[in-house]
Amino acid sequence: MGSHRDDATSEVVLSALKFNRHTFWCGQSGSGKTYALGVVLEQLLLSTRLPLLILDPNADFTRLPETRDSSDPEAAETIAASDIRVLHSTRRDLPQLRTRFTDLPLAAKAAVLQLDPIADADEYNVLLHADATLTGTPDQSTYITALRASDDPGHQRLAKRIENLQVLDWDLWARGEVAATDIVDERPQATVLDLGGFAHSAEPKVAALSVLEHLWARREERRPVLIVIDEAHNICPPVATSAVEQALIDRVVQIAAEGRKFGLWLLLSTQRPTKIHPNVLSQCDNLCLMRMNAPRDLAELADTFGFVGEHLLAESPEFRQGEALFAGGFITTPTFTRMGARITEEGGADVGVPLPA
Ligand SMILES: Nc1ncnc2c1ncn2[C@@H]1O[C@H](COP(=O)(O)OP(=O)(O)OP(=O)(O)O)[C@@H](O)[C@H]1O
Ligand SMILES: [Mg+2]
Repeated sequence: MGSHRDDATSEVVLSALKFNRHTFWCGQSGSGKTYALGVVLEQLLLSTRLPLLILDPNADFTRLPETRDSSDPEAAETIAASDIRVLHSTRRDLPQLRTRFTDLPLAAKAAVLQLDPIADADEYNVLLHADATLTGTPDQSTYITALRASDDPGHQRLAKRIENLQVLDWDLWARGEVAATDIVDERPQATVLDLGGFAHSAEPKVAALSVLEHLWARREERRPVLIVIDEAHNICPPVATSAVEQALIDRVVQIAAEGRKFGLWLLLSTQRPTKIHPNVLSQCDNLCLMRMNAPRDLAELADTFGFVGEHLLAESPEFRQGEALFAGGFITTPTFTRMGARITEEGGADVGVPLPA
């Protein structure tokens, strides 16, 4: 990962094998979480064949396939030769992040359309029986036309709802193109889902939901994948503000509780422990703590990660950028670390203050 904080000559090593647990990555804004996460992902690419699925809200990992000139040439060559797929939403000229509505499980479809099985019984029932009609229809407007043409009031109400919510306008829908789930199924070494470029706030969440539902539905295949969620408070906050968010929370909580034995392992990064759902946090065995000022947050961490001494956590307000405390299953003993250099390029570096010429 880098060197010991107080001894630049000694290396800090994490056990790659212990990424078969859930990992929590935490630190205030600018502490260097995303940069450090990149260091870990590079090392996992170099030393394992564990596929990485990266949910990237700020296009920070979209340049993961690009190596830096200054880096170790052998490592750079290995990463450059790795199968890394980036599915974009912030750029139009590159492969796009797409999802098929028809592939979502019923509850997720209902969440997208804000349908309640009791309060909206008629429309929900149409959706329930819609799968046969929808499957294989690349152009979803055909479905709307069919709904509108029907005499059934439930069909017509569902058509109106879909139109009013304007979900058909979303760029996210595959409309016959390749969906993210198709790529994930090919098991590349890394798949980066660039979530930041969509116009509607629900689109990145539905994109995340579609791949998580897909992995969960196939959990019995027991094919391992590390699900990396940067800014995890967007995906599994303690309280949902929409039906889609509730569906996401439910899925992540279940993966946190039961995914481990199926090879669905989480690596969640966020600024404060209280910003993610407590039932997810409590399932994490590995901790990376970067600079964090608030005593309340440190107390929360001490509560969850009882195996880390409070006196160690208490040092984090003094950390400089790029300094971290690793603790838990993936390291023999809690270790203060100065993160090493990135091999690959960062996507969304900080914006500088303009100065006079
Ligand atoms: N170890 C490091 N070496 C060199 N530069 C670093 C290091 N850590 C962070 N930086 C730089 O500092 C800036 C902020 O780091 P980063 O984006 O990783 O912070 P963060 O903790 O993810 O913040 P946020 O919570 O706001 O996303 C970036 O421009 C990054 O390039
Ligand atoms: Mg970040």
